[in-house]
Amino acid sequence: MDRRFLYFGRSLMQNTKIGIFDSGVGGLTVVDQIRRLLPAAELLYVADNARAPYGPRSAEEVLNFSRQITNFLLAQGAGLIVIACNTATSVAIDTLRLEYPDISFVGMEPAVKPAATHTRNGRIGVMATELTLSGSRYQQLVTEYAYSTEILADPCVGLVPLIEAGDWESGAVKSKLRAILDPMLAAGIDALVLGCTHYPLLREQIKAICGDGVEIIDPAPATARQVGRLYISLTDTENKTYCTPLHRFHSTGKSLPLERVLFRLRLPYRLSLASSNLG
Ligand code: DGL
Repeated sequence: MDRRFLYFGRSLMQNTKIGIFDSGVGGLTVVDQIRRLLPAAELLYVADNARAPYGPRSAEEVLNFSRQITNFLLAQGAGLIVIACNTATSVAIDTLRLEYPDISFVGMEPAVKPAATHTRNGRIGVMATELTLSGSRYQQLVTEYAYSTEILADPCVGLVPLIEAGDWESGAVKSKLRAILDPMLAAGIDALVLGCTHYPLLREQIKAICGDGVEIIDPAPATARQVGRLYISLTDTENKTYCTPLHRFHSTGKSLPLERVLFRLRLPYRLSLASSNLG
């Protein structure tokens, strides 16, 4: 562990929180990585589960939700915003960067580049939402990094609600995963991109279907490293004071899905769960 990540800074971002959001519990896979890297940083999380899933919605709707949540997080004292959602990143990050030029945003995108680099046989699978897959950012990634790679992409319709419902071992989850993965495996993929932050919550189930021959790629650790670099650059790491942070988790709908996943991930937080209507 790099000791620099263990401390709060005292100047620019003293007492400033890292704001993180997703349509639901998926972004907790990113929270998990960030808190490992920055255990003293205070995190403020919004799960917009009253309006999840984002995948089947229009780009305009998801941009508006992202704007509302950004305003909420900034009002709560966030100094850095992590869009822990591939779908919201795809439609909102460019606009948010223009609208909030003084705020740093970190986004997520399907890890097509590492998958195209790691594949040995030139065939990769991409699991992502329909809005992500239809967006120009994804198309650009493919054109730039995977032009000579065969891509089997699936919009995983209906998977996010099953994950939010929490019964990850259910027959419904297994058969949904089979319907998504079987055609990819039949085509011979050797790398699989988890292009939605909800999907790493099913990593074990996905691995059980894919076996050892498929490398499963989750961009959350790389995203957390990027957050760490930014956080360090925005804070004064001299005159440090260690303190145990109080993280806050907000849901726009019921808080049970959040509580369930926080418990399952064994996230060692003092919690302040608060439902809030951002709309
Ligand atoms: N977790 C999200 C993502 O990374 C959103 C999924 C959804 O709400 O459809 O894309």
